[in-house]
Amino acid sequence: MPFGHSTWPFGIPPPMKPTPRIVPAEPNIEQAARQIDAGGLVAFPTETVYGLGANAFDAIAVARIFELKARPQFDPLIVHIADVADVECLATSFPHAARVLVEQFWPGPLTVVLPKQPIVPDIVTAGLPSVAIRLPDHPIALALIRAARVPIAAPSANPFGRVSPTTAAHVDEQLDERLEWILDGGPCRVGVESTIVSFLGPTPSLLRPGGVPLEVLEAAIGPVTVHPSAIPSSAADRPLAPGQLASHYAPSTPLQLLINSDASQFRGQRVGLLSFRSPSNRTGWAAIEVLSERGDLGEAAANLFAAIRRLDAAGLDLIIAEPLPEAGLGNAIMDRLRRASARAAAHFARTKAT
Ligand code: TXA
Ligand code: MG
Repeated sequence: MPFGHSTWPFGIPPPMKPTPRIVPAEPNIEQAARQIDAGGLVAFPTETVYGLGANAFDAIAVARIFELKARPQFDPLIVHIADVADVECLATSFPHAARVLVEQFWPGPLTVVLPKQPIVPDIVTAGLPSVAIRLPDHPIALALIRAARVPIAAPSANPFGRVSPTTAAHVDEQLDERLEWILDGGPCRVGVESTIVSFLGPTPSLLRPGGVPLEVLEAAIGPVTVHPSAIPSSAADRPLAPGQLASHYAPSTPLQLLINSDASQFRGQRVGLLSFRSPSNRTGWAAIEVLSERGDLGEAAANLFAAIRRLDAAGLDLIIAEPLPEAGLGNAIMDRLRRASARAAAHFARTKAT
């Protein structure tokens, strides 16, 4: 008999676990939902990146997310829903502009930040009076939320500050055995996280560039203010506002953004190249990853995190990333590359200073 949540005490995951822990998503959605009911964690695919999910109303289960990711408690989580009507259960107001956006972009890579209802536990929102809500465009994510019959709080399923996962194998490589279930839904279609827009102030404010480009948001609702947290350099001065740290998405290998780079300038080092299109000169690079041969930003976004991971696994001294055009999805990609390079930049600045 499959385990049912009534037979297991709340907060303790049932002992039956899949071996291996990566399981095909479709046949296992019901069991995974029972795991969520029982206070467990389930990694699941969305169209952006894989999420690490728990029952959003279960503070103890949500605390396990923070533990497993080693995520600082000041960094709030996104609550995932499967039905727009659920916004009213989570938020005390739903302004017109937010409604216009969700009508146009849900299901999809858009997260809206609204004043929270008391039912949302403080641990989910890191004590903030607001909650981030998203309705993902992925049949497995939606089926899991519906089967669990609760909203699912889920950050990206990677250790804090590291590269986000776009396949089940990426999740498996990075999170330890305390995570029992990884629902495999194949590679993520969008490849960068959702765009986050806050509706707490007088005008909508972009907190994170993502899968819905800023230009597209503005075409729908008019001007959107860009919050300092959406600009990597200024996030360095305001690391707590709100969870968008300057250094993020970081591979273990130092990554540097450089225009018109030439491998010969790094003599004596094993250097890899992360290139938008095919590079004109391939000589001297120890490894090359091309994000999109045909120069398509959507394709580049979908390939971004997997390409960074492959370079990170290639035993390099340095990864050089070429800047991409900063329009449309290029803004989200460049945001990720700037944050991925922030640690190396800080390191280089320190070694120069001393
Ligand atoms: O595409 C996505 O959004 C993915 C998938 C799994 O849905 N999720 C994701 O979650 O990227 P995470 O935890 O990696 O990033 C969530 C971001 C953080 O920067 C956090 O600070 C911000 O959302 N956030 C969450 N709640 C917030 C709030 N109440 N106010 C401001 N920012 C908030
Ligand atoms: Mg993340």
